[in-house]
Formats: sequence, structure tokens, C-alpha cells
Amino acid sequence: MSTLIKQVRADGLPRHVAVIMDGNGRWAKARGLPRVAGHQAGAQAAERLIRFAGGKLGLKNLTLFAFSTENWNRPAEEVDFLMHLLDQFITEKLKEFIREGVRLIVSGDLGGLPSQIRETVRNAIEQTAQNDRLLLNVALNYGARQEIVRACQRVASAAVAGKLNLVELDENSFACFLYTDGIPDPDIIIRTSGEMRLSNFLLWQAAYAELYFTGTLWPDFTPAELLKTIASYQKRERRFGGVRNV
Ligand code: FPP
Repeated sequence: MSTLIKQVRADGLPRHVAVIMDGNGRWAKARGLPRVAGHQAGAQAAERLIRFAGGKLGLKNLTLFAFSTENWNRPAEEVDFLMHLLDQFITEKLKEFIREGVRLIVSGDLGGLPSQIRETVRNAIEQTAQNDRLLLNVALNYGARQEIVRACQRVASAAVAGKLNLVELDENSFACFLYTDGIPDPDIIIRTSGEMRLSNFLLWQAAYAELYFTGTLWPDFTPAELLKTIASYQKRERRFGGVRNV
């Protein structure tokens, strides 16, 4: 780890890393365990990563895709388990978040969640609102198309209320209507478990993100692998549609 951390330039850290945490089910299956055991191990991997990102690494913004709008199609017991796991995770971590300067926000439709987790999330958002060391954005009941449609509805409401002049609407002002208002776009999007899709994740914000796909199953994803990803990101040349540097 210590040699790896030296390979990463502190001045070139991504401003925002976003992760599609995939492969919990396969991790469990490979061990002859029920799928939910994979989610439990996945929560531990998330815990390790958050602690490392906000601590030693000094990352400012981290988004974790915890539950998509499509995940409701899973068996009811698995959905219930995930809701309970996320509720428990946020409840148990709240003290540490407050102590370590982690600010929690959620991207997604909170109104569509069971009331218990909705309250846990609202309370954690409120209690960590002043923290500024690491912004932890948990995508929960999130879908990027839903986010964009919601942004359009909010734009329309603002225009009807006379608070927005549509002629002045541009990419920057539109982005303020997304869940990620105020957060820089992700520089890196990581997906674990070998799948190479964005699966309705941050479609607007991903416009210029570097994409990293690893075969590692989410529960096995370590801070060391995050460091390797960042070291590799720092070697990539980002052009944002411009010309190659020669
Ligand atoms: C994908 O694995 C994972 C999920 C749908 C849930 C992600 C949730 C966690 C990792 C729990 C903890 C999260 C936080 C933020 C505490 P999968 O079930 O689709 O795996 P498979 O593709 O191998 O079946």
C-alpha cells in the first residue's frame, strides 16, 4: 500500500470518483453462500473504501451506486435485506461520519423508499450537512434517466414561476437541477465484476469521465485497487474533445 500511495500524485487526484459496486451475488455464489451474504460483504468493502478515501487518500467526492430504480425487480426478500442493510449501515456509521468530516448526500428518489430508511437518510443528511472533508453521495433508488426527466420538470416549474429565463438555460444551469448540483462531474467511473455498461448511472455527469472496468467482484475491491486505478488515471491524457498534446 505505501509504495502504491507514492505512485499517486496528490496534486492530480480525481476530484470525484464514482463506483458501480457490482458482483456481490457472484461473490456469494462462488462461496456457496446466499446472495445476501454477498451484499453484507459488499457493505464492508464500501466501509473500507469510504474510510480510506476520506482519510489517507484525501479524496473530496465519492459516489457509490447502492440501489437502482431497476433493483426493485429483485426478489422481495433481497430488496428488504438491502434496505435493512443500508439503513443499518448509515445508522451505525453516522457517528464516524460526523467525527471524520464525511458529508452524506443521496442521489435518487427518497420519496419512493420505505419510511424507516427515508428517515435515517434524512437525519444523516441533516447531521452531516456542515462536514466538508469527504462528500459521500449514495445513489439510492437512483436512475439517470429519471434524474434527467426530474430535472426537466424542475426546469419547467422554475420557468413557469418566473424564476428562470429559458433563453438563458445552458449546460451549467441545467446541471443545477440534477441531484449532483454543486458536485464536480466524476473524473473516474469504476465498475467492478467485469460488466462493461453504465446501467443508467450518471449518464449526464459521465460525459467526459474516464471509465475503468475491473473483473474484481465488489466485496474483493480494496483501497489498493482504487490506488492502482487512480495511478492509471493519472497516466491517461484527457482531451475533453480537444486535440492531442504532441
Ligand atoms: C450489485 O451486486 C450490488 C448491488 C445491487 C447492491 C450494492 C449494495 C451494497 C454493496 C451494499 C452496501 C452499500 C453501501 C453504500 C453501504 P449484484 O447483486 O448485482 O451482484 P451479481 O451481479 O453478482 O448478482
